[in-house]
Amino acid sequence: MIPWPALSLALGSAAFVLGQSPIVREDKRAFAVLDPNGPFRNGTQLFEPTPNVNLTPPYFQVFDDRFNDILGPNPTVRAIIENDTFAFAHDGPVWIPSTNQVFTGGFLAPKFHPSNGSKVSMFNLNDLENSTTGLINFTVVPLSADVQINNGATLFRGDLLLVTTGNGTLPPSVVRVNPSPPFNDTTILNNFYGRQFIGLNDAKIHPQSRAIFFTDVTYGFENGFLYRFDADTGDVRVIADGFVRPNGIAFSPDGKTAYIADSGESGGVTAGINLTLPATIYAFDVMPDTQSFANRRVFAYIDTDVPDGLALDTNGNLYVGCGDGTQVFDPKGTLLGKIFIGVSSSSLVFAGKGRLLVNADTKIYLAEIAAEEWT
Ligand SMILES: *[C@@H]1O[C@H](CO)[C@@H](O)[C@H](O)[C@H]1NC(C)=O
Ligand SMILES: *[C@@H]1O[C@H](CO)[C@@H](O)[C@H](O)[C@H]1NC(C)=O
Ligand SMILES: *[C@@H]1O[C@H](CO)[C@@H](O)[C@H](O)[C@H]1NC(C)=O
Ligand SMILES: *[C@@H]1O[C@H](CO)[C@@H](O)[C@H](O)[C@H]1NC(C)=O
Ligand SMILES: *[C@@H]1O[C@H](CO)[C@@H](O)[C@H](O)[C@H]1NC(C)=O
Ligand SMILES: *[C@@H]1O[C@H](CO)[C@@H](O)[C@H](O)[C@H]1NC(C)=O
Ligand SMILES: *[C@@H]1O[C@H](CO)[C@@H](O)[C@H](O)[C@H]1NC(C)=O
Ligand SMILES: *[C@@H]1O[C@H](CO)[C@@H](O)[C@H](O)[C@H]1NC(C)=O
Repeated sequence: MIPWPALSLALGSAAFVLGQSPIVREDKRAFAVLDPNGPFRNGTQLFEPTPNVNLTPPYFQVFDDRFNDILGPNPTVRAIIENDTFAFAHDGPVWIPSTNQVFTGGFLAPKFHPSNGSKVSMFNLNDLENSTTGLINFTVVPLSADVQINNGATLFRGDLLLVTTGNGTLPPSVVRVNPSPPFNDTTILNNFYGRQFIGLNDAKIHPQSRAIFFTDVTYGFENGFLYRFDADTGDVRVIADGFVRPNGIAFSPDGKTAYIADSGESGGVTAGINLTLPATIYAFDVMPDTQSFANRRVFAYIDTDVPDGLALDTNGNLYVGCGDGTQVFDPKGTLLGKIFIGVSSSSLVFAGKGRLLVNADTKIYLAEIAAEEWT
């Protein structure tokens, strides 16, 4: 563990001074063999392999020295927004570079539950400048009733692109939302040749073709598909199947590799955990002609709960929202380190160079590190 000097975040007399963010260096060899009497665990419990580490998360765990380059010399991680009664930060965070505004989907209850009203909230990272506590506020975005249970989101042609689960008679849909008042929206897709989707979960734009790729997860139903939608021609097609619960999606910077998180192990609020099902990130080659996904292989298996939202940095390292925070893998699938927040994180988003926002339902953490997103 290396203590880092405290950083002064804001200027002036009321400056909020950041506490130290500890770094624990974990030696993979040191826990290769555990005592036969334990402590063993299943994927629902946290893992701090170094004995007698008595730290309260959040902190950093370094499993590979290369993680130090990702963290940089003075990494910090802390909560910047909290609301104990409102899981405002579940999924679908999007950062708007021009305004420093962030949008995120959530649920009006302390824990995520699809029967609790879903809301999209927003906040501005510029507010950190004058915050004396290190915390900032968010507000609920006044969206129309067309947007129900938004899960994944991304930026598309200057608008927010939300993928939804729908609600009651309103079908799941892909919706464009104006990120400025009056936050008007336009639904751009809600069916596959007349057939309804199941519950859209996450979306990304392919870096070269700019087509929209989104996952349709199986919470409550069978089968999980991955779709590609060309917003200009209207063409929608299935480009991968065979998942249990396809969840997060991301592309490598060159657009040639796709990553899909299969959160099959977690059946959500109805089916609970089944440890025999996948908690796996699969990598695929994106076919140059059709952009369908080929050569599926296991990229990584998540040791704590399930993988959910995904993001990549400029060096092609993959950041995964999962049961203990954010896990970071190199392009070959080696675990480099964790932003260990000690609770489940459904999603994450880079907000400019060196700033990673980690959603944890009732809190959002800001990790200030060296890495930056490739987009
Ligand atoms: C995992 O282990 C914990 C603690 O022993 C136990 O409470 C829980 O039921 C286990 N979960 C599963 C899915 O086996
Ligand atoms: C938390 O969210 C609820 C629901 O929007 C709101 O009524 C309450 O004021 C918020 N609390 C804080 C501390 O922001
Ligand atoms: C959220 O939904 C669950 C399940 O329906 C319900 O038990 C709980 O009371 C709801 N919470 C709130 C704050 O509405
Ligand atoms: C679904 O719609 C009903 C009726 O408008 C509303 O009460 C409920 O909160 C909605 N559910 C979610 C998760 O938004
Ligand atoms: C921070 O305070 C300064 C001085 O009052 C003000 O000029 C600036 O606009 C404030 N920044 C934000 C983001 O509110
Ligand atoms: C957040 O809202 C509270 C209550 O309105 C206010 O006292 C506080 O100054 C706000 N914090 C920031 C950073 O704007
Ligand atoms: C919002 O309304 C403006 C003005 O009518 C329109 O140009 C824009 O396309 C709308 N945006 C969305 C996402 O519906
Ligand atoms: C767990 O998943 C396996 C594979 O689908 C299935 O055979 C088994 O019945 C499931 N277990 C439970 C308790 O649902």
